[in-house]
Amino acid sequence: MSKKKLRSDDWFGRSGKDGFIYRSWFKKQGIPQDELQGKPIIGICNTWSELTPCNSHFRELAEFVKRGILEAGGFPVEFPVMSLGESLMKPTTMLYRNQVSVDVEESIRANPLDGVVLLCGCDKTTPALVMGACSVNIPAIVLSGGAMLTGKYKGKSISTSDLWLFSEANRSGKMSDQEMLEAESGMCRSDGHCAVMGTASTMACMVEALGLTLPQNAAIPAPDSARKVIAQLTGREIVQMVKADRKPSDILTRAAFENAIRVNAAIGGSTNFVIHLLAIAGRVGVELNLQDMDTFSKDIPLITNLQPSGKYFMEDLYYAGGLPAVIKELLPTLNQDCITANGKTVNENYKDSPCYDADVISKMEQPFNEVSGIVVLKGNLCEKGAVIKPSAASKHLMHHTGKAVVFETIDDYKERIADPNLEIDENSVMVMKNVGLKGYPGMPEVGNMGLPPKLLEKGITDMIRISDGRMSGTGFGTVVLHVSPEAAIGGNLALVQNGDLITLNVAERILHLHVDDATLAARRKNFVPIDLGYTRGYTKQFLDHVLQPEEGADFDYLKGSSGSDIQRDSH
Ligand code: FES
Repeated sequence: MSKKKLRSDDWFGRSGKDGFIYRSWFKKQGIPQDELQGKPIIGICNTWSELTPCNSHFRELAEFVKRGILEAGGFPVEFPVMSLGESLMKPTTMLYRNQVSVDVEESIRANPLDGVVLLCGCDKTTPALVMGACSVNIPAIVLSGGAMLTGKYKGKSISTSDLWLFSEANRSGKMSDQEMLEAESGMCRSDGHCAVMGTASTMACMVEALGLTLPQNAAIPAPDSARKVIAQLTGREIVQMVKADRKPSDILTRAAFENAIRVNAAIGGSTNFVIHLLAIAGRVGVELNLQDMDTFSKDIPLITNLQPSGKYFMEDLYYAGGLPAVIKELLPTLNQDCITANGKTVNENYKDSPCYDADVISKMEQPFNEVSGIVVLKGNLCEKGAVIKPSAASKHLMHHTGKAVVFETIDDYKERIADPNLEIDENSVMVMKNVGLKGYPGMPEVGNMGLPPKLLEKGITDMIRISDGRMSGTGFGTVVLHVSPEAAIGGNLALVQNGDLITLNVAERILHLHVDDATLAARRKNFVPIDLGYTRGYTKQFLDHVLQPEEGADFDYLKGSSGSDIQRDSH
């Protein structure tokens, strides 16, 4: 045990009236006196909810975490926080990520906790919990819930990325409503989050690459008994972390963030990674910017053959050796001395990790795709940046100039996309405005907007699409996202008109609107910001304080950490 006094001692170690109150009401849960004397109190921050189906097995998982905590001499206390279910919440879970981070931060700080295990699964639950824990900075470790088993439909393996294909096939009449129903029933066969390298899997890999989990946390499937084992081991580990006083700020160094960017490139991770990693860096005070995403990933090829950039599923990644086998392959490019949750370095944790299937995890010299990672675009259409995921894009569109077909809002898109008279062909560039953080509070995942039915019928499967929105990590296509400044605050995206020429050149990192400055200035005079009419409540607060995507879409007043001290103690 380190000499440092336990934080919880400031509650349970007190004498007089205050100590009486803290202990007595706690004991009514059937807790003997000796459990409150000198044992680390470990919070289990649980995002279990039946409204978050990806996390619906977390109550059972928490029991295994508790076993581990008790074995290691700690005392577990489970507490709920708001949960974010990607598949159900409207308008988008991203609207609430920062809200949950506040819930987590304040729940940890206000209570007698010495360490915390963060139970994360569905997309936003991971960054939200990590952000909150970082802003308190007591020992914290992440346990991911694991991906679901691979879906099955008509004998084929499917998962969330296929949903986009099914949807296009249904819209073009190639897949019946009855077949859609059958596919729907085979998609989600077990506990766990989406089974491809979507945002949830990306987040699970991100926290392992950052060093915030035990090795192998990312890829163990949710229903696998190994998931329960790692839950128990995670419970044991957090007690050791408290004893060693190993905090997020000790693990989350600049070097650790660089590692996470490289790993994300190697796995073909979600573009949402960019926003969440920047937000986490902001909470621990590490200088990280949008350009770093490109700089540290540009030499890393795609070595993981997983949908949506490849063909396999998270289950296959685990059988092939899991993220440890990927990290082992990447080791020469990584900062190997970074300390991780178990106190070992990246090198110590991963140097002996075997790969069992070269068709799932390749060697660096024979990658599945030379181009990977997140490309950060610059140009007059995105003065503060935009991103594209080249591993999920079409090669023939990586350098292309086309005429803009503009949709002013998502509603405008929905109204006109199926119009047979819409002037559009496969060389056009689809532009959608006002789906950014302020234009459509929360920046929904609509950036990979569906193609016009008349082009789908012609067999066209991809076109350049540009917006200030996001894309599901399960999505794919030549999709330019996170254009900043967004249209709603007067970024040049707001000034694009039908017929304007736009050039995308991924190799040169260029997104250029072929309209001269004088014309843009003239158009700007007529710019009217979209008025969404929010005058109260959380959404108003979101609109007043959310930062742009290149700053992680955090709230201005949430950046940084307030530590674990409580400023006012009324007892
Ligand atoms: Fe939860 Fe996909 S809906 S991870």
